[in-house]
Amino acid sequence: MYPIHIAPGLSKELPALLDRAGVPARRFIVSNPTVWRIHEALFTGLTAEDPILIPDGERHKHLQTVSRIYDALIRARADRASAIVAIGGGVVGDTAGFAAATYLRGIPVVQVPTTLLAQVDSAIGGKVGVNHALGKNLIGAFHQPAVVAIDTSLLETLPRREFRAGLYEVIKYGAITSRGLFDRVAGSLKPLFNRDEASLLTIVTESSAIKARVVESDEREHGLRRILNFGHTTGHALEAVTKYKRFLHGEAVAYGMLVAAELGVARGMMPSADRDALASVIANMGPLPAIADVHVPEVLEAVGHDKKVIKGQLHFVMPKSIGDCEVVTDVTKEELAAALAAIGAAA
Ligand SMILES: NC(=O)c1ccc[n+]([C@@H]2O[C@H](COP(=O)([O-])OP(=O)(O)OC[C@H]3O[C@@H](n4cnc5c(N)ncnc54)[C@H](O)[C@@H]3O)[C@@H](O)[C@H]2O)c1
Ligand SMILES: [Zn+2]
Repeated sequence: MYPIHIAPGLSKELPALLDRAGVPARRFIVSNPTVWRIHEALFTGLTAEDPILIPDGERHKHLQTVSRIYDALIRARADRASAIVAIGGGVVGDTAGFAAATYLRGIPVVQVPTTLLAQVDSAIGGKVGVNHALGKNLIGAFHQPAVVAIDTSLLETLPRREFRAGLYEVIKYGAITSRGLFDRVAGSLKPLFNRDEASLLTIVTESSAIKARVVESDEREHGLRRILNFGHTTGHALEAVTKYKRFLHGEAVAYGMLVAAELGVARGMMPSADRDALASVIANMGPLPAIADVHVPEVLEAVGHDKKVIKGQLHFVMPKSIGDCEVVTDVTKEELAAALAAIGAAA
């Protein structure tokens, strides 16, 4: 397993860290103008090469952007003794990681995640890739990072809504594997939203470790890794039916977790007190975009197109309690419809 380093202020130590890890000395930063404008000063001294800035936003996570990274690398005569250092959120990490996976059949990538979502999720696990006009994340590879360097201080400048979206994924890790983490988040929302250093460090450390452990045991996503999709079946469907415009990914996942909890309770698999605990922490985090005008039949239709439908069977992560879950394959449309109605979707 590659090293995952986590500390507030870590960015300043990155040159020494990468030297020690044996990362090739020619380093090419890939970032975006938003992140670079705010944080450039932290990364002087990392490389003499010009940074490769790619446009900000999910809509730029496509092959043309990868191609622009190749152009810059080729113009600079980057060779096999070169590495990419991806500094940004999941969009930068996925896009730059894919460029690294494919340039000269693969050069090392260092992930320096700057969003909460990227720190606890996308920078870990080696999945890299881009969207296609016909679907999200359809083009990609597995390319494990040489180093993951998580500087939790970078989160101070993250917009509140983006921070909250990442925090739903932290809740997810708690819900599927750790009551302790779940309770810690629920009990420290205020310091977390104030970006208190110690609180952030604790939950990022725990969450990234859970992701790393799950992924390590199942690198190519056959079994255990599926539990990471908790809340994602419905979440992806909600994103799709609202054309990826209404919800940030984490927000859609929050609704998806609520749906899964309703299902678990309806089946008698999960105590209603645990569903209530999940609903309450999500409510305490602040408002979610509206769902009252999203129609259940459309969501069901979108669920049918989900990647987690394998040979016609939907693999659904069902919560058993806060901290425990199980993958089931017999969820019916009727059950899902009832759960969606219970959380407020339109008939
Ligand atoms: N590879 C994986 O395993 C994996 C897992 C989950 C998600 N993803 C992907 O991650 C992407 C979403 O990532 P994201 O949520 O990080 O979004 P993002 O990369 O779009 O970043 C969100 C916004 O925050 C800005 N930003 C980033 N860091 C900042 C900082 N420190 N201060 C201020 N602003 C900052 C960005 O410029 C952007 O505008 C999606 O494309 C998704 O598919 C990948
Ligand atoms: Zn997710």
